[in-house]
Parts: sequence; structure tokens; C-alpha cells
Amino acid sequence: MHNNSVKQKTAMSDRDFRRFRELIYEQCGINLVPAKKTMLTSRLRKRLRALNMESFGQYFDHVSSLKGKTGELVHMLDAVSTNKTDFFRESKHFDYLMKEALPRMVRSGYWRPGRRLNIWSAGCSSGEEPYTITMVLADFVSGKRAWDFSVLATDISTRVLEKAKKGIYPEDATEPVPPPLKRRYMMRGNGSQKGLCRVVPELRNHLQFRRINLNDGRNFGIRTRMDIIFCRNVIIYFDRETQKKLFEKFYAQIVPGGYLFIGHSETLHGINDRFKSVAVATYIKPSG
Ligand SMILES: C[S@@+](CC[C@H](N)C(=O)[O-])C[C@H]1O[C@@H](n2cnc3c(N)ncnc32)[C@H](O)[C@@H]1O
Repeated sequence: MHNNSVKQKTAMSDRDFRRFRELIYEQCGINLVPAKKTMLTSRLRKRLRALNMESFGQYFDHVSSLKGKTGELVHMLDAVSTNKTDFFRESKHFDYLMKEALPRMVRSGYWRPGRRLNIWSAGCSSGEEPYTITMVLADFVSGKRAWDFSVLATDISTRVLEKAKKGIYPEDATEPVPPPLKRRYMMRGNGSQKGLCRVVPELRNHLQFRRINLNDGRNFGIRTRMDIIFCRNVIIYFDRETQKKLFEKFYAQIVPGGYLFIGHSETLHGINDRFKSVAVATYIKPSG
């Protein structure tokens, strides 16, 4: 008891904060301003406790060692990332997708039977965003044969990805899902599962989950070129240089005529002027 309360009070020196800050920035592009020191301290204290370590200095040496970089680092980045999300978050994007983007892609012949549409939810957190996208797409193609699509859902945090893969959510969390879609694509639990909703297997078959660090590699290790990328409420944690590099890579990854959706409070202004703005936080890669 005594020991535990001492550990809970372990403080982080400014030097340690600077060292963690540099390591986190170098590893995933997240830029922790000094005001985040309290948040970082409390989140990393949990890792100190889990590993029975006495000080942040000891933890830093461990996580930045060769061994730590292939093990503990993933847990540290899990603890550091902010994962707030919702079904149908920033719902204007899904209206635009249904009413503008998908009909345009069909009209122009960009998307046609036998040509799979590839969509990427980059920074998907616990899955609400990619399941929302999949519901909208499944509804759009329902009754049309041979119209195919696939959704890749990725995040740096293995903790949220595990949750996303399960596809089980408290019923309250599914409240923003329009009732017709909820009836079709979510199952209510019974007995010990009461109060929970599970995404139907038909929807899950369109989805793949993978851990991808958006700051890794030239093409994120993805061979497929994307028709639509959602990267929303992720870049707010990155500095300008990291954002510029990321959108250059997204530009190369998107097929001409494809779309990019970013968070409503984010902008590409001064970051990338090759994408053309078509609606709120919505961009197209010009096709010529
Ligand atoms: C606030 S959530 C946004 C979730 C969802 N896109 C939305 O808008 O509701 C941000 C997500 O980005 C992820 N993230 C942060 N840095 C990342 C990186 N370098 N690579 C991949 N994912 C990252 C976090 O783990 C977190 O799950």
C-alpha cells in the first residue's frame, strides 16, 4: 500500500518530459506541447505500475532501448494516443458520400460492377468510423449485384484495434446510427450480452484491420491504391512538417478522381494545395 502510493506520486522531470516528447515525435509524429506534461505523466504512470518500475527515467531507458522499441514502445504509444470517436461523427461527410461522391463515381464510370472500390479509414480508433463507412457503402450497393467495396481500417494503437475487431459496442454508443441502418447492420445482445450491440458478419466481411503507423514508410506498406481516404481528427496531434509529409503520401496513394476526408476542425490550407476542396473538410485528387 505504502509502496503503491509512493509510485503514484512519481513525478516526471522536465528532462524526462523532453526525452519522451522527442521519442514520441520521432516514432509517430505526435507533437506533445509542454501543457501535455500532466496528461503524459498520468498515462505513463500506468505503464510504470504495470512494469513495476520506480521512475520515469528507468522507464525511458527501457522503452528507448533496442528491446523496448520492439516491445514496450507499442504499449507506450497506446497509452499516449487519444482515441475519442463516434458512429456517424461529423455526419456531413456521410451525407456527402451518399449524395455526392458515390453517385458521381457511379455516373462517371469510375466505380462500376466488377471494379472494387477501396476505402481507407486511417486512424480508425475503436472502429466506429470504419463501421459507419461500411454501413453507408453496404446500404448504397444493397440490391445491386457485383458492386464491390473493401474498407481498410488502421491505427497505431493495438488496444483500440482489438476493440474494433470485436465490433461490439454498448447500445448507447450506437445512438447516432440511423434506425434503418441499425436494424439492418447491428444485432442486439441477449442474456450476458444485454445492453450491447454487435455489428453483423455481413458488414465485417468488407473490413480488414491492421496496425499502421502513418509516419512509417514511403507508402505505408500498402500496395493497394485507395479511392477514398478518411483521416479525421488524427493530424491535430502532428506538427506542420509531419502533416505535409503525410498528405504528400496520401496524394500518391489516392487514385485520381478519389476523395480525401479530414476532420471538420482540420484544413489542408498551407499544407497541401494539390488536393481540390469540394466541401467542408472534403477534398478530391483532380483527375487530369
Ligand atoms: C481522435 S482519434 C480519431 C478517430 C476517428 N478517425 C474519428 O475521427 O472519430 C485519433 C486516432 O489516431 C490514431 N493515431 C495517432 N497517431 C497515429 C499514427 N502516427 N499512426 C496511426 N494512427 C495514429 C490514434 O491512436 C487514435 O486512435
